[in-house]
Amino acid sequence: MSISISPAPPKTEASATGSGPPARHDPPIIVFERVSKSYPNGVSAVQDVSFTVRPRDFVFVVGASGAGKSTIIRLLIREETATKGHVLVEGQDLARIRHRHLPRLRRKMGIVFQDFKLLPKLTVAQNVAFAIQVTDPGRSYLKEKVGEALYIVGLEDKLNSYPTELSGGEQQRVAIARALIHRPRIFLADEPTGNLDPDAGWGIVQLLLQINHRGATVVMATHNREVVDLSRRRVLAMEGGRLIRDEQEGHYLKDGEANL
Ligand SMILES: Nc1ncnc2c1ncn2[C@@H]1O[C@H](COP(=O)(O)OP(=O)(O)OP(=O)(O)O)[C@@H](O)[C@H]1O
Ligand SMILES: [Mg+2]
Repeated sequence: MSISISPAPPKTEASATGSGPPARHDPPIIVFERVSKSYPNGVSAVQDVSFTVRPRDFVFVVGASGAGKSTIIRLLIREETATKGHVLVEGQDLARIRHRHLPRLRRKMGIVFQDFKLLPKLTVAQNVAFAIQVTDPGRSYLKEKVGEALYIVGLEDKLNSYPTELSGGEQQRVAIARALIHRPRIFLADEPTGNLDPDAGWGIVQLLLQINHRGATVVMATHNREVVDLSRRRVLAMEGGRLIRDEQEGHYLKDGEANL
């Protein structure tokens, strides 16, 4: 498999928006403190997992199918709650957030999935606007926000297209634009390249690296060995629900490790 797109953006240079490098000394934006998650059917999806993520860090969560990657993402958006331990976002214990305050938590986060979850009967602009239409009906404001999000993902010329008229990579970009609309501080991606060919997948990872460079913290769950090895970012490796490796500028596999 060959990837022909230009390399990942630099990690340490200040960006045009002035966000700068990861904030090593700021308090962590995400904390997993001895977290376990058992599903009602008894499956232990995550077992005694601890890690912290600093603001503006970029983290890959890797591991074989069933290793617990998506469960980590679901715990972060409080779609699931930890059976043991604590998950904190910006210092707030997610278990303590009342149900009615969950939308506020989720507005801090952008999230994209393997399947793009676009609404087929809405145009690109309408899909992107959908998330704020309810709270911010002001037309010019909405147009400006949608334009800005589509500009970031490089699709400002596709405003009026429908999802079926776009390639998979473009559809994922629309999903990313939609997730960017609230300017989230944390961007979560669960297998965002899973349905894409290598070039389109690498394009999406580059976009996430760019979003990180603009100041967001990014956590990306993936099976995609090549993009992890090319990006040289932090790697959290999961196996059977356990965190087996936490490495800065890591690889998908550790030397000598069996294929995940
Ligand atoms: N809602 C659920 N109810 C019961 N078991 C679940 C549920 N979701 C996941 N599991 C189980 O928990 C374990 C971890 O699943 P998870 O989806 O987190 O893995 P994953 O690493 O994301 O896998 P994949 O790479 O296939 O997406 C698996 O054994 C899975 O079968
Ligand atoms: Mg998964």
